[in-house]
Amino acid sequence: MKLIDGKDISGKVLDEIKLSIDERLKNNLKVPHLAAILVGDDGASKTYVNSKIKACERVGFKSSLFKFDDSISENELISQIQDINEDNDIDGFIVQLPLPKHINQEKILNKVSPDKDVDGFHPNNYGKMTLGIDTFLPATPAGIIELIERSEIQTEGKKCLVIGRSQIVGRPISILLSQNNSFGNSTVTVAHSRSKDLKKLCLESDIIISAIGIPEFIKGDMIKEGSSIIDVGITRVKDISSPKGYRITGDVDFKSVSSKVGYITPVPGGVGPMTISMLLKNTLKACELSD
Ligand code: GUN
Repeated sequence: MKLIDGKDISGKVLDEIKLSIDERLKNNLKVPHLAAILVGDDGASKTYVNSKIKACERVGFKSSLFKFDDSISENELISQIQDINEDNDIDGFIVQLPLPKHINQEKILNKVSPDKDVDGFHPNNYGKMTLGIDTFLPATPAGIIELIERSEIQTEGKKCLVIGRSQIVGRPISILLSQNNSFGNSTVTVAHSRSKDLKKLCLESDIIISAIGIPEFIKGDMIKEGSSIIDVGITRVKDISSPKGYRITGDVDFKSVSSKVGYITPVPGGVGPMTISMLLKNTLKACELSD
């Protein structure tokens, strides 16, 4: 079993970004500026946004956090987004999801300028990704691709099972892995809540990418010997022995699976850290495109 160390790989990506920033500074070029919009009081969203801001400090980016109460109206939020779209100093920004129920997520994501859409969620960018045109790839699937490439996991001709069809992870990673490129050419199956006989699908797969958010759902008897597993699950599970009162748990039952797998990502420390470094990579790209 080989552990895919996302923390280490993410650190390498951040070091590479930092080198680009040092180079930009030498050439008197602008430092990238990432902004994040956080609406409401969700604990996990606050943690993620803070990690993104901290990563900006590490590589020498400028960052801004726009925090709003969850009583903000849709129109007020749109107006804030328009201001950020027009702010020439901000190269890229994200609207942290999920948004409160009274706000239409699709409408909001449509208002983000595609040139600053470092999450890759605007339909223009999502469409480009689907067509295989260079654009901002959503951070989590981009991070998964980076882990697969840097671990030299072969995807060509392999049977790859994506569990979950979310807009943020399942759907985009299934598209990317099926495309004709160095990290793609897989035979991809997308399983979801209506799929039948998931165990059979898992047992047939060379690569499993699980993004369903059910703690320790995938057990050792569900996987093929030597397969590679990318665990995107990050569920907070109550744990009174932990100082925070919870622990982060993936979709995969690491204990029963680890003796059978070829490669596996741990949770925490697998896909999670990669999403942050890929977001920063997109922000550097946005800044470079506006030079
Ligand atoms: N919430 C969970 N994942 C993401 C992400 O990749 N981007 C944003 N904006 N919100 C998220």
